[in-house]
Amino acid sequence: MELQPNQLAFLDSCGDARKLALSFKDPLVVHHHDADGVSSGAIVVGGLRDAGKAPRSKCIRKLDDAAINELVKANEREIIFVDLGGGNPRVNELNDVLIIDHHQTSGIEKAQANPMLHGIEGSDELSAAGAAYCVFRSRVDLAVVGAVGDIQSPMKAMNRWVLEQGERSNEVRVDIDLRFYGRYCRSLVQFLAYSDDPYIPMISYNEERAQGLLANLGIELKDGGRWKVYADLKQEEKKKLISEIANILVSGNMVKRANDLIGESYVFPNRPKNETYEANEFSTLLNACGRHERPDIGLRVCLGDESAYGEARELLAFHRKMIRDGIGFATSRVQDLGPFYFLDARGAVEESILGTVCGMVLRATWAKPIIGVSDGENNTIKVSSRAPRALVAAGLNLAQVMRAGVEASGGIGGGHRIAAGASIPEDKINEFLLGAGKELGQKT
Ligand code: C5P
Repeated sequence: MELQPNQLAFLDSCGDARKLALSFKDPLVVHHHDADGVSSGAIVVGGLRDAGKAPRSKCIRKLDDAAINELVKANEREIIFVDLGGGNPRVNELNDVLIIDHHQTSGIEKAQANPMLHGIEGSDELSAAGAAYCVFRSRVDLAVVGAVGDIQSPMKAMNRWVLEQGERSNEVRVDIDLRFYGRYCRSLVQFLAYSDDPYIPMISYNEERAQGLLANLGIELKDGGRWKVYADLKQEEKKKLISEIANILVSGNMVKRANDLIGESYVFPNRPKNETYEANEFSTLLNACGRHERPDIGLRVCLGDESAYGEARELLAFHRKMIRDGIGFATSRVQDLGPFYFLDARGAVEESILGTVCGMVLRATWAKPIIGVSDGENNTIKVSSRAPRALVAAGLNLAQVMRAGVEASGGIGGGHRIAAGASIPEDKINEFLLGAGKELGQKT
């Protein structure tokens, strides 16, 4: 793919960022806790190590005043912010700072490699991990993981260029196959029952029916004593399974969803055939580590430390259970408030997985945006929102919706057009919803 002048200018700025990063003697990498934050953090830590440095790293949920104050108090300098930093002008109070971010940014006086400064959209054209790859030019598979974790696939624009670099170096392979999650790692029943994009009526979230469907097709669940995965199936079996799912969707008048069954997925031939072999599974593993307070394990997995896999897998199992429980709660409690669905998950769903649960609830209908709330830290409410792609394509911007809500309630918020969040005072939920709802009402 031929790069446009603005994309080349962004790569130039990444070259400058690399020089600055490598000039730091004792760098501290401060990165975000989601899959894109952990994978971009790993690219930076790995790149610095390759250059003979011993970077320290710190993973945070948000770069708020408390996080900045802590860095100021510890007299930290030579800080590389990754997947955050561009949105908080208080970074200007710190010394020797580099920001590698892909969020909207303003008022920043520090060096910054951010595609948004070059007309490259950070919400769907380049992830933070993609930006980190452009700075360090290594670990391109992690750049793909970050983009997938940030719901930026199928890759386009600058992400596509990054993907092409990965294909060229044989670190990434593009498969066109069933888009379901877990082709290499999940037992067949789980693969079918918990893959909800697209959502299959009667099958998604119903293990018994998923098992029945496989039995009707004569597909064996085990090979000897071992549970088979989708990748083990013969070509004929795969075809049968795909056409059966397509039939269910078509007979339920969901032709569009049937067309979405097959798509691109990204595989990493140099990684072991475990949860790190395919981008979707890898990004979920990282989310599980980051969102359950063990981003260090995710970082080690990214950097190929095999001794971290066992713990990462345990976190993943825990994460999946929490999400299953969260979805069970959400499907019976979600309310239709007109311009958006509302999920009051306070006391039921942990804030760290609220966004994931909202995203999965959205997939059952794709009809309108969802705003969820949960208990946050220090007497705050955590807000997460997710929007259907079609509405985003038509102009909806959830980051703006969150900002409108925050203007009415106080707190902080932002994010991307398709996925955004906020933290607001716990007694200001009505004000927030009125502000956000008003903004949404004007846009939908
Ligand atoms: O937490 P959640 O996954 O819902 O966040 C979605 C997006 O919103 C993330 O990109 C995050 O950086 C952004 N966000 C934000 N400010 C917050 C909470 C989330 O900018 N207070």
